[in-house]
Amino acid sequence: MSVVISGTGLYTPQQVISNDELVESFNRYVTQFNLKHQAKIEAGLCQALEPSSAEFIEKASGIKQRYVIDKIGILDTDRMRPSIPARADEAISLQCEMSMTAIYQALDHAHLTPADVDGIIVACSNYQRAYPALAIEIQQQLQCGGFGFDMNVACSSATFGIATGKSFIESGQCKTVLVVSPEICSGHLDFTNRDSHFIFGDACTAVVLQDESTVTVPHFKIIGTQLDTQYSNHIRNNNGFLTHAETKNNQPTPLHLFYQQGRKVFKEVTPLVVEHIHRHLHNLNISADSLKRFWLHQANKTMNELICKRILNKNFEEQFAPIILDQYANTSSAGSIICFHLHHVDFTAGDQGLICSFGAGYSVGSVTIEKVD
Ligand code: COA
Repeated sequence: MSVVISGTGLYTPQQVISNDELVESFNRYVTQFNLKHQAKIEAGLCQALEPSSAEFIEKASGIKQRYVIDKIGILDTDRMRPSIPARADEAISLQCEMSMTAIYQALDHAHLTPADVDGIIVACSNYQRAYPALAIEIQQQLQCGGFGFDMNVACSSATFGIATGKSFIESGQCKTVLVVSPEICSGHLDFTNRDSHFIFGDACTAVVLQDESTVTVPHFKIIGTQLDTQYSNHIRNNNGFLTHAETKNNQPTPLHLFYQQGRKVFKEVTPLVVEHIHRHLHNLNISADSLKRFWLHQANKTMNELICKRILNKNFEEQFAPIILDQYANTSSAGSIICFHLHHVDFTAGDQGLICSFGAGYSVGSVTIEKVD
């Protein structure tokens, strides 16, 4: 039996921040900070902050803008974070709300209704609560049976989720599984940190996985999946339930946000991904040159170009490995799925492509697919 991707959906927030807007606000914050701490800076007790630059951001990463849930809070130099008010327990949560938009779109593509769904996996980097599982809240909203659970493999969550959902269908436990990635990356980003304030954006994707015998629309058959992990401290977010218990001498609770050593990550993850894709395709007996497209994780444009150059025996056009991070920035696990969602309509029967995500952990996940009409 085969498992297929029969639909995808995308939720994009309405608010956009360009590099120029982000840098203008960041640099105002820097001026205010340096003025406020002038005496300490002059006494060598505090380091002056340095300004950011829109040219640097685009050149170093390829990012031109990002979609966000709340622009005003992020650009407010007295706040420097999105404003996302808490909701009552009885109200639908924000991550569930954005998931529903992406899910209904994906189910529509697959010509399915919520009643067809019997498994929901929410696979993303950050959850707004520990429990009850977001996937079970989504199940309640959809009024469907089966089960739901949350999982987290950072930027690789969606591909790991697809591999997991595929196993449930293969084992006979499910016929139709949703893999949903509601990423509010602006919530864990330190907008006062020059090295990373530009990196992330918000979005949500949904993927419908189906037993091929039940599918009624043109689809992508999953030919194989490959998952790899290797421990690294170079991308971290230490936020967790023990944050509350870390407080010393009644000081305010420490604030744990995303941090990385970007250059090291670039240098270490690139060869990991190249080796992983080589091995994955070798196991499937597929030559990389015969693939029509790579839908890669969207963290850094140069990194994606380098990965393609090292894997392919030919020069490649940008349409071989499309870039969406110029518009969306890094949306963590949603990135490679957004890329697939926006860049697959030109596929005809027999065309093959590879979705590959990579990031914190380190983790690398690949899903190789073939178009079936
Ligand atoms: N504006 C202007 N200059 C900046 C800057 C900013 N916002 N941020 C850093 N710089 C400066 C640095 O201080 C440094 O200056 P120096 O050369 O005088 O020391 C210089 O620019 C280069 O900084 P560096 O951090 O080495 O940049 P980089 O070229 O490595 O680009 C990233 C940074 C984050 C874009 C890049 O490393 C990257 O994308 N890495 C991969 C990350 C990844 O895949 N992560 C997965 C995340 S989920």
